[in-house]
Amino acid sequence: MATSAAPASKSQFAAIGLDMGGSSIKYALVGTDGKLVESTFNKALTPEGAHPEAVAEVMAQIIRDLQEVTGEDLAGLPAGVTVPGIVIDGVVHSAANIDKAWIGLDATSMLSKVLEREVYLLNDADAAGVAEVYAGAGSKDGQPLKGSTLLLTLGTGIGSAFFRDGVLFPNVEFGHLEIDGFDAESKAAARVMREENLSWEQYIARLQRYLSHVEFLCSPDLIVIGGAISEDHEHFLPKLDLRAKLVPAEFNNAAGVLGAAHRAMHPGN
Ligand code: BGC
Repeated sequence: MATSAAPASKSQFAAIGLDMGGSSIKYALVGTDGKLVESTFNKALTPEGAHPEAVAEVMAQIIRDLQEVTGEDLAGLPAGVTVPGIVIDGVVHSAANIDKAWIGLDATSMLSKVLEREVYLLNDADAAGVAEVYAGAGSKDGQPLKGSTLLLTLGTGIGSAFFRDGVLFPNVEFGHLEIDGFDAESKAAARVMREENLSWEQYIARLQRYLSHVEFLCSPDLIVIGGAISEDHEHFLPKLDLRAKLVPAEFNNAAGVLGAAHRAMHPGN
């Protein structure tokens, strides 16, 4: 799952990846080789409030745009879609940073209708974790690492994905641990650093408190840090003191898209 040039024909596309966040929807086509078709990677604004129907409309437009850009008829190509919430059997069960109308919604059926194709829905951090564990920082020679791997995305909220020997334990919500009386993501998400104008030193202290607690709860061998802030990993990863090995994510902001498409290509994983 690395990047590649645009394949010559539709038959080389395997899935569409759509990664929904509070501010943008990232998307791309993924080839039959599991690699992101870099020329198609892009993002659209999440509609204000992220109401399900409005989001579905933007996704339908994205697919029309992809058809135009590639000159291919993408009918029948499955789509992997992420949401920043708990997803059980295609139904969304939480919505910390998006419209509460998602809660209880069979978003898989709704999106399948609007996008006119098979849709596979999963949590955004789980999707990013799948990409990293199958082909990125949580893998070696194209195989998931043995042991316990925890991926944490530091962004608008804190997303988490937990794997044992490459098998996902879905919907782990470590961003919502209560620590010192606060919802953890309200103190340690990357957004908070910007909003509260924290220095690296101040933010690192919060991350240390958070990560030490998470490590105590699940004893991972490896912690992969994702989210846009992971591009600045040299500012903070070396300063954190944990037993687990701590590494930056490899796919950065494309991990969710790749993981979503991976799920559409391999529904069992
Ligand atoms: C949500 C998670 C999501 C994370 C990152 C949290 O607020 O509860 O489901 O993975 O934000 O978007």
